[in-house]
Amino acid sequence: MSCTAIAPTNLALIKYWGKRDASLNLPINSSLSVTLDQRDLQTITTASFADDKDRLWVNGEEVEVESIPRTVTVLKEFRKLIPPSDPRHSRPIHLASKNSFPTAAGLASSAAGYSAMVTALAGLFELDFEGRKEEFSRIARQGSGSACRSLMGGFVAWNMGNAADGSDSQAEQICAASHWPTLEAVICVASDKKKSVSSTSGMQTSVKTSQLLGHRAEAIVPTRFEQIKRAIKDLNTECVWELTMKESNQFHACCLDTCPPIFYLTDTSRRIIHVVNELNQQGVKYAYTFDAGPNAVIFTESQNVHPLLQRLVQMFPPCRNDLRVDADYEFVRGRTRLTRAQILDDLPKKQEQAEDLSGDLLYLFHTGVGQGARILTGAEEDKYRNELFSQKN
Ligand code: PMV
Repeated sequence: MSCTAIAPTNLALIKYWGKRDASLNLPINSSLSVTLDQRDLQTITTASFADDKDRLWVNGEEVEVESIPRTVTVLKEFRKLIPPSDPRHSRPIHLASKNSFPTAAGLASSAAGYSAMVTALAGLFELDFEGRKEEFSRIARQGSGSACRSLMGGFVAWNMGNAADGSDSQAEQICAASHWPTLEAVICVASDKKKSVSSTSGMQTSVKTSQLLGHRAEAIVPTRFEQIKRAIKDLNTECVWELTMKESNQFHACCLDTCPPIFYLTDTSRRIIHVVNELNQQGVKYAYTFDAGPNAVIFTESQNVHPLLQRLVQMFPPCRNDLRVDADYEFVRGRTRLTRAQILDDLPKKQEQAEDLSGDLLYLFHTGVGQGARILTGAEEDKYRNELFSQKN
């Protein structure tokens, strides 16, 4: 009577910013994202029937379900799929969830969170998850807009739809991860703190106050959305990178055009933009994008990752005198692993003094494109279910 699911996070190339219906999470424009590898960044959620009441644990801490209307909605939507005569219709549900990355720091933790929740609930109610993904993406959307895109792998569009009830506002896979397996990403974590303005409240203020946002949704995104879909299908990398950077810039311009303005980018974010521009001087090989936070995600192809990491650790080395962390502290994580000591040993002293930006980045994370959310089975399920159950108490 339980189901455990794993879900990846996703990073938008065409950004979702602005709702036309806040209670149903219906967007003012379509968006498109890359699903990141769930082996590197993931949320794992166990859903189980219980006897007391609906309860939720996030990273080992209990959170009152009633205090999160979006979670209440997701549970309600699932119960609607079960006939009232079915005893499971009224059974309380326990949800326990764990993230492998910073919560609410602009790394789309809510996307992984709500897609894992929806996948685990589909399994708990024994519904055909694989066959009904588009339908479940509409439920995930009501948890967090961007979550609808994490149910699928590879390159995923969220078609905004026109219906007032949201019945056509759902995710669609454009290409599987296998279409472009050499797409990789380096996440530059400048902060793992909760963002100062949540995306929900930020986008509501932008919709009310930014003229630029209205213009963007009406006159710019529809064309870009089609262009990037074509470019991904054709593997026209340069076009994908250029559109990605323009999108990120325009999203943050809309934040600046909001009243009062929202500043998600920091000096470190801007320095990273300069590094990418500098690396792109001989042809566009890298694309930065920023969500609602200061952390950059840089997309590129496999063969270009090494020079990028080299440049980034040179420019933003770990602090030599940081007493808070030891030499084994992993400064580069994920597919490439480098400790603070390994980096500092290699770094020429002279250069380190020339650009003293040490400590600007907490760490770097190397990952790539991956599969969508899935229900865990066998040994994988046992491992995570036991871990999450033990955290509930
Ligand atoms: O799904 P939310 O409410 O966390 O909003 C996500 C907004 C952005 O991450 C900035 C853009 C996007 O499309 O993911």
